[in-house]
Amino acid sequence: MKLIVSNHKMNLTLEEIKDYVEEIESLSLVKNALVFCPSFPYLPYFQGKNYSLGSQNVADQKMGALTGEVSVEQLKSLGVSYVIVGHSERRKILKESLETIQRKTDLCLESEIIPILCIGESLDEQSVKEEILKKEIDSVLKSEKKYEKVIIAYEPIWAIGTGITPTEEEIKQTIQKIKSHVKERYSINCKVLYGGSVTPENIEQLDKIEWIDGYLIGGTSLDIPKLKEVIKVLEA
Ligand code: PGA
Repeated sequence: MKLIVSNHKMNLTLEEIKDYVEEIESLSLVKNALVFCPSFPYLPYFQGKNYSLGSQNVADQKMGALTGEVSVEQLKSLGVSYVIVGHSERRKILKESLETIQRKTDLCLESEIIPILCIGESLDEQSVKEEILKKEIDSVLKSEKKYEKVIIAYEPIWAIGTGITPTEEEIKQTIQKIKSHVKERYSINCKVLYGGSVTPENIEQLDKIEWIDGYLIGGTSLDIPKLKEVIKVLEA
């Protein structure tokens, strides 16, 4: 089964999280096909056996004097096995640089945590989409075996939270190009997820697209009945 990564972003209160965790316990799933990425304080509440745990972010330094940050080793001690790096909200709103994203990816790999590297173009960047995607990939990957672990999530920024998605043909072509670029330049067969307004309404169509290895899901994953509908289609 394909990977489903649920990105909660900065949502849900403790009471809501407790209900959420109770509900996901009843999900019957192929083991490790589902990854939940809640906000940092809620990570200890997600200790179920039928899913994996992910973090939405990580510090770009190992440990020490960095108020408000959370290190890769701390995440590991909480059972985290995936970390989202370079989400467009962090790149654009929090001005995270390419170098910072590279350091975060490397720290994850050193600690055997799988980085989910988000890449994507904004609406104004559509004419230079390929260059943008390559720049975001090339600033992180190297031709070394350890980079085989990196999962790329292609998320067109204009599709995130908008209810608008690229056409199936566009998604297919973009993912194909990402995979061939990574193969040609780094000799790596990378996994690529699609993210941006994945819903129960469009999952069936999206899932017909060849080359997609899974989905990074924001809004829909906050609503368990909707998430269940998506899972049902992918499990079929
Ligand atoms: P969305 O978010 O599913 O709400 O569009 C996806 C993401 O930003 O990872």
